[in-house]
Amino acid sequence: MKKQLQDHKSSNHISSRLPTLISVSFLITFGFCFGLVSSLYVRVSFPSAQTKQILFRSSPPRPPPSPPTLSPPRVVQDRSFVGKQGIGQNGYVKPRNFMHDMEDEELLWRASMVPRIRKLPFKHAQKVAFLFLTRGNLPLAPLWEEFFKGNEGSYSIYVHTDPSFDWSVPKSSVFYGRRIPSQVVRWGTISMLDAERRLLANALLDFSNRRFVLLSESCIPLFNFPTVYSYLINSTEVFVEVYDDPGPNGRGRYKSTLKPGIEFKQWRKGSQWFAVDRGLAMEIVSDEKYFPLFQRYCRPSCLADEHYLPTLMNVRSFWGTANRSLTWADWSKGGPHPARIGRNEITAELLQRMRNGSACSYNGRTTRICYLFGRKFLPNSLNRLVRLAPKLMDFGGS
Ligand SMILES: *[C@@H]1O[C@H](CO)[C@@H](O)[C@H](O)[C@H]1NC(C)=O
Ligand SMILES: *[C@@H]1O[C@H](CO)[C@@H](O)[C@H](O)[C@H]1NC(C)=O
Ligand SMILES: *[C@@H]1O[C@H](CO)[C@@H](O)[C@H](O)[C@H]1NC(C)=O
Repeated sequence: MKKQLQDHKSSNHISSRLPTLISVSFLITFGFCFGLVSSLYVRVSFPSAQTKQILFRSSPPRPPPSPPTLSPPRVVQDRSFVGKQGIGQNGYVKPRNFMHDMEDEELLWRASMVPRIRKLPFKHAQKVAFLFLTRGNLPLAPLWEEFFKGNEGSYSIYVHTDPSFDWSVPKSSVFYGRRIPSQVVRWGTISMLDAERRLLANALLDFSNRRFVLLSESCIPLFNFPTVYSYLINSTEVFVEVYDDPGPNGRGRYKSTLKPGIEFKQWRKGSQWFAVDRGLAMEIVSDEKYFPLFQRYCRPSCLADEHYLPTLMNVRSFWGTANRSLTWADWSKGGPHPARIGRNEITAELLQRMRNGSACSYNGRTTRICYLFGRKFLPNSLNRLVRLAPKLMDFGGS
């Protein structure tokens, strides 16, 4: 453009001044318009980092919305509208979409919020959250279906499974749509605890969840739902094992790099399979002190899943644990893993033994019900369990 102007300048000598003025102002106007249009164009096609983020956030990959209802629009206090569109109670109390687009950091932060007013301003069911930490599918799902049947409203289910696993569950299943945004878990590493925290955090988003039980794909219920529910909901204590194992599989797994945050004498062990209340679940997802230490120093493998929670309970002096796991396992064969139970091992007598244990303390009294769940059941045990459940465990068979 500069060159063009110069050309005009040089042509001044031979032409009159008026046409030159016109062409110069034309060029200026044209240049201005071109600049304006092109800057607008650039803005539209290349949004800034900020707008990009907003665009991305507002369209997460959500499941398709439920079809609109045909009832006439109401003007008065339509709370579902507020919950969906803006700041409203329902967004917190009854999250409509189970899936979310939060990263772990965002999820844990969101889940760590505690209302300071204790009394809830709405009616709510007290639910037990069943957290399934699995590698792939749930081979014993049909038994669990029988267990949950007819108890809708008293439980929530959350499944964490390998992200590469093709999770397909029929719409009629209680497990339908209950898979949370999951990540790869390598057994024995800290990624297992990441998954447990992810499960807890997802379940904490629902205020109705009052108790949180961790289960695996090889777990079975030993009693019917009402028994399990009332045992958990009515318990004045949480169920986390906390003990000091002086051997190589206990103290031997302590890493001195954990000092000074966690001293050798504070190191504890316990079963991974916990049942906790909201308060402790909240402490676990919001622990900014000890969890990062485990992340950094509990490696290569120090089996954080057996040590993190018991050690946290100990260093923070959390009392109020029944100091036992509710999940039965057969350790009689020795070794680092409990025995697997297949079709041929299952007998009525074995199940009775799990259900009717030795004396355990419950809310200050003694009970023979020490375990509500059992592991590790192989997939081939399913048919036998489904057949025995109505007679022995008082559920199913309808
Ligand atoms: C909890 O215990 C109380 C008193 O023993 C009982 O009335 C109530 O039904 C129990 N709640 C559940 C959910 O079982
Ligand atoms: C839990 O029980 C073990 C014995 O099994 C005991 O050594 C330990 O001190 C108990 N822990 C708590 C916190 O009561
Ligand atoms: C549990 O075991 C004890 C002792 O073996 C027995 O007396 C009791 O009847 C059993 N209870 C049930 C419900 O099976």
